[in-house]
Amino acid sequence: MRKIIIDCDPGHDDIMAIITALAHKDELDIIGITTVAGNQTLDKVTNNILKVENYLGINIPVYSGYDKPIIKPSMPQPIAHGESGMDGPILEESKVKASNKHALDFYKEVLEKEKITIVALAPLTNLGMLIATYPNLKDNIEQIVLMGGALNGGNINKYAEFNIWHDPEAAKIVFDSNIKVVMAPIEVCESGAILLSEVNNISYDKKVSKLVRELFDFYCNYAIERNLDRTSIFDVVPIVYLLKPELFKYELGTVDIVLDGVDSQGQTIFKKDENGCHIVLLETDRERFIKVFIDAINVLDDN
Ligand code: RIB
Ligand code: CA
Repeated sequence: MRKIIIDCDPGHDDIMAIITALAHKDELDIIGITTVAGNQTLDKVTNNILKVENYLGINIPVYSGYDKPIIKPSMPQPIAHGESGMDGPILEESKVKASNKHALDFYKEVLEKEKITIVALAPLTNLGMLIATYPNLKDNIEQIVLMGGALNGGNINKYAEFNIWHDPEAAKIVFDSNIKVVMAPIEVCESGAILLSEVNNISYDKKVSKLVRELFDFYCNYAIERNLDRTSIFDVVPIVYLLKPELFKYELGTVDIVLDGVDSQGQTIFKKDENGCHIVLLETDRERFIKVFIDAINVLDDN
């Protein structure tokens, strides 16, 4: 059993990642979910996870974090995730609110007591501020497994991936911290992309599969409009890595974050190094990766 905190900006693929983790309660103990501005404003992404927890009938404590990057302005992404940050499903508002405790205080409280793994599925503002504010707590961060970065061209521009681009200063603090980081860049996510034909096999008939299918009903628009036959479920990758690391090829090295480039700010530069503390995932076995995701939906619906 591994204790984890998921830091996220739901976000269609953030929710898919959380659903995948929820199906493996005997392996992953989600002791808290923290939210941060990214795909949408902090209020919207926090409200989205609360609505999903209410819909699923779960009550993992939610702690909201920072509402803007350390230096840059916040840049929500309505094209990819809609004005709500999770367009598609119509879910009732949650009666449960986020904790009054700030995400940073939650991390401090936990890390003063025990070692945990942090799964980061969003811009790294919360984690950058955590490491900068409480450097003495770094030793209790076993590892940070994150979706972010790009090896050959980004998705927010030709250089950078969104999560790193949104708060490059925070990313620099995280990658320079000597904490073990497992990075899932765009390329490994694309190697595990779900086919639109596989999405069409997800039914509307059961509770969890209905939610996932309705998430895809909006999320797949990006691929459909570009005549693509598949779409990446980016944030699911760090969760599947924790469950089945054997599904991934990776390299050891060090990742540097470009801060000063006019266009290339947020670019991730990877250098191979057998002694590096960064593990960069390169590719996955697509069919086996997608099976973990689909099986998770079915496990939750069958329980
Ligand atoms: O670049 C993909 C990342 O940006 C994912 O975490 C997605 O949710 C968005 O936040
Ligand atoms: Ca995300």
